[in-house]
Amino acid sequence: MTTKYPEIPKKTFADYGQMLHGFWPNKPTFTEKDYPEFEGKVIIVTGGNTGVGYETVKSLAGSTKAKIYIFSRNEEKTLKAIKDIELEVAKEYKLKPNPIGFIQTDLSDLTTIKPAVEKFLNKESRLDLIIHNAGVMTPPTGSKSKQGYELQLGTNVLGPFLLQRLLDPIFIKTAKTNPPGVSRIVWVASTAHQVAPKGGIFWEDKNFENIPISSTIRMQIYGQSKAADILLAKAWTRHHPNVKDDVISTSVCPGYLKTELSRHSSWFESFILNRVTWPRRFGAYTELYAAFSPDVKDGDYSISFGVPAHTREDLNSVESGDKLWNWCEKETDPYV
Ligand SMILES: NC(=O)c1ccc[n+]([C@@H]2O[C@H](COP(=O)([O-])OP(=O)(O)OC[C@H]3O[C@@H](n4cnc5c(N)ncnc54)[C@H](OP(=O)(O)O)[C@@H]3O)[C@@H](O)[C@H]2O)c1
Repeated sequence: MTTKYPEIPKKTFADYGQMLHGFWPNKPTFTEKDYPEFEGKVIIVTGGNTGVGYETVKSLAGSTKAKIYIFSRNEEKTLKAIKDIELEVAKEYKLKPNPIGFIQTDLSDLTTIKPAVEKFLNKESRLDLIIHNAGVMTPPTGSKSKQGYELQLGTNVLGPFLLQRLLDPIFIKTAKTNPPGVSRIVWVASTAHQVAPKGGIFWEDKNFENIPISSTIRMQIYGQSKAADILLAKAWTRHHPNVKDDVISTSVCPGYLKTELSRHSSWFESFILNRVTWPRRFGAYTELYAAFSPDVKDGDYSISFGVPAHTREDLNSVESGDKLWNWCEKETDPYV
């Protein structure tokens, strides 16, 4: 039997242009001065304890009056991050932010997500903005989520899908009270979606268990999970037609940034990455452009550091999006 490898669609010149854009990004122009006050509103940022998520939380805490919750897995690391954010906000923005909440959840273990949402629902009666920022890239070959999915598929796709699914009722209820376009879901994807299998997912072997794993395939597996985030962003409103004019579901590549994302990269990869990446703070500007800019519409994709962009053409397929959506629903049914 011959090994079946994923088919990676040919890229257009525009696709290549966009991949290069990450090295020479636009200066952020939509920044703190442009964000809404968001007084009385509630925001969730997953993975807000480090990297881009940390900067996103800091920027929100320094420039809005919203109540912010970090959903993350490591209590000690997150409580320290919250203390640091509060100190940095006091120094940089000259104010004392609202207390930042912490809700523990491990996105790679579907059983931890419902208890986290229940904890959140005990504290809050509205939810205006969710930034699905947490993610993992190229972990050691064979790494699995608690339920046995390839780790990036589990953490970057199924975990956020279930979290969003469980938050949908409070989010939709809130969206109906907000002016159109205020309630948003930001799915943090990546330019790495360009190396994803055709249609996003390698359905023949989505856990990549039956082919030899080279460094190219490792990036394709990460790319698969990030293409899936884009498909979910485009699919969410289609699957919630009752609020399709109220909610914006959108995806971003935050930029090429110096964060802990390369923690599983080789010494050589990290050496190169360190030379071509930007301070993590800039990534927050991309995420918050998607969260707040009036120029962003439902289904849009944005890149560094807050400009409109396009995704690979095959990811506009409704059929591909719905196939993934239905699979995610089926897999997460037992955890709802
Ligand atoms: N950095 C870049 O150049 C770049 C480029 C394109 C896209 N992105 C995307 O940007 C997002 C943020 O990444 P980053 O660069 O800021 O990386 P990072 O510094 O490694 O931060 C990733 C965050 O995700 C959290 N996380 C990982 N696995 C988790 C799990 N199982 N459950 C809950 N939280 C988990 C991490 O928590 P711990 O601290 O506990 O590990 C951390 O808070 C990711 O979605 C990434 O794919 C980044």
